[in-house]
Amino acid sequence: QEELFKKLVAHCKEYGFIFPSSEIYDGLSAVYDYGQMGVELKNNIKRYWWDSMTKLHDNIVGIDAAIFMHPRVWEASGHVGAFNDPLIDNKDSKKRYRADVLIEDWIAKQDEKIDKEVEKGRKRFGERFDEEQFRATNPRVAEITAKRNEINTRMAQALNANDLDGLRQIIIDTEIACPISGTRNWTEVRQFNLMFDTKIGSVADGANTIYLRPETAQGIFVNFLNVQKTGRMKIPFGIAQIGKAFRNEIVARQFIFRMREFEQMEMQFFVRPGEELAWFAKWKEARMRWHRALGFGDDNYRFHDHEKLAHYANAAADIEFRFPFGFKEVEGVHSRTDFDLGRHEEFSGKKIRYYDAETGESYIPYVIETSIGVDRMVLQVLSAGYQEEKLENGEERTVLSIPAPLAPVKAAVLPLVKKDGLPEIAHRIKNTLRYDYNIQYDEKDSIGKRYRRQDAIGTPLCITVDHQSAEDGTVTVRDRDTMRQERVNIEAIPALVESKAGM
Ligand code: GAP
Repeated sequence: QEELFKKLVAHCKEYGFIFPSSEIYDGLSAVYDYGQMGVELKNNIKRYWWDSMTKLHDNIVGIDAAIFMHPRVWEASGHVGAFNDPLIDNKDSKKRYRADVLIEDWIAKQDEKIDKEVEKGRKRFGERFDEEQFRATNPRVAEITAKRNEINTRMAQALNANDLDGLRQIIIDTEIACPISGTRNWTEVRQFNLMFDTKIGSVADGANTIYLRPETAQGIFVNFLNVQKTGRMKIPFGIAQIGKAFRNEIVARQFIFRMREFEQMEMQFFVRPGEELAWFAKWKEARMRWHRALGFGDDNYRFHDHEKLAHYANAAADIEFRFPFGFKEVEGVHSRTDFDLGRHEEFSGKKIRYYDAETGESYIPYVIETSIGVDRMVLQVLSAGYQEEKLENGEERTVLSIPAPLAPVKAAVLPLVKKDGLPEIAHRIKNTLRYDYNIQYDEKDSIGKRYRRQDAIGTPLCITVDHQSAEDGTVTVRDRDTMRQERVNIEAIPALVESKAGM
């Protein structure tokens, strides 16, 4: 799996999906640029989410708030005081780590050890093997599991209580060594705020520190009344937004999974107090259905209900996807109570209330939030779609089997040869499609090579113009996944592309 992931990262660069930022200067850690294919894929993912939120729900509208916000916003939201990572340094390597991530890695290792023991048992007992019983009774498995669970509980407690010494003690007790120096020579654990700051205005006017937003959500909260009043919105209703967010992540790993500059698609859904947990359950299920509808296999998703709740939440769950490096969060669904609107009322001194004509009451609405990382969706689509296939004729192909509506290029038009009027017919076909879809025209190299290039960027349809096309007005259409070809009338092509790859 790790090998496959490395290949995927290389593939993303080779075919113009994702490049390291400022690569000619050796890159910038945890920052990436989207290339000519990547930006199309990313835009399609954003449109797919946006349409499913705003077009398919009468009571959800969108906004696009600025990245810069008044500095008091982040005091009110709690980010100035509490948006911290617990960091620890190794005195020998001078490397800095997130204490909780070191412990999580240790827990993951214990899980691997347990799985290995189970596998051994399976081999030993063959058909008679009962996994549940083995897990419950095997002394070695029981010992590892007990220690693993104890550490997991202690970590949750330490994080909840902000107990930095407690976190350090876990690292000492589990004898975690620095991956670089191999030593256990650790410093104290310190809090480190994740927000980037900068200055607004010239220094001469008395510059003010402002922050690059670490989440898009606050742009929605501060606009709650603007949208509710001007849109005459009635509770329950939602506001959706797509935009950049910035976090000074210390542990930047796994390609575009955790970046310092990334994009979020968030929706804040405002409900009556007391109804939030029912709405939380509804949105949790609705978001899971949205992911599964992409067809990457239901087994590749799971919920992770949070034990440790953020300062603003009374319930929270992640939707996790099985990436090549394991199950990881792609989306969070959070019941944020009236925390944010309440705090903005307090900090701004402006009333942020909703008059509910049905109940005759005025209240601060409660909020359910669905929050998904665009880049993690891109990685989900790429890692689910990337396949290396052995063909019947012994050749190999690399194909991105991604859902056709998300594919960067919807169809490629390929004249079999560069003469006999075939390029002209191909251009005419491209011109009928280009206003509605991203289409490629390619006449270079053998047809086989051209098919491989389109497979590698995930183009669902290849339309080949041959000599018969000039005679009877038909072309062959090749399907990316089945590689089957059929002859189709040129007039039927737009409807075919729409049925295959339309949103
Ligand atoms: N407004 C709530 C919020 O921001 P979060 O769980 O911190 O919640 C939501 O982030 C989503 O944003 C995550 O599920 C993830 O998909 C994405 N995300 C968060 N940090 C990220 C990072 N450093 N790089 C890429 N995506 C990130």
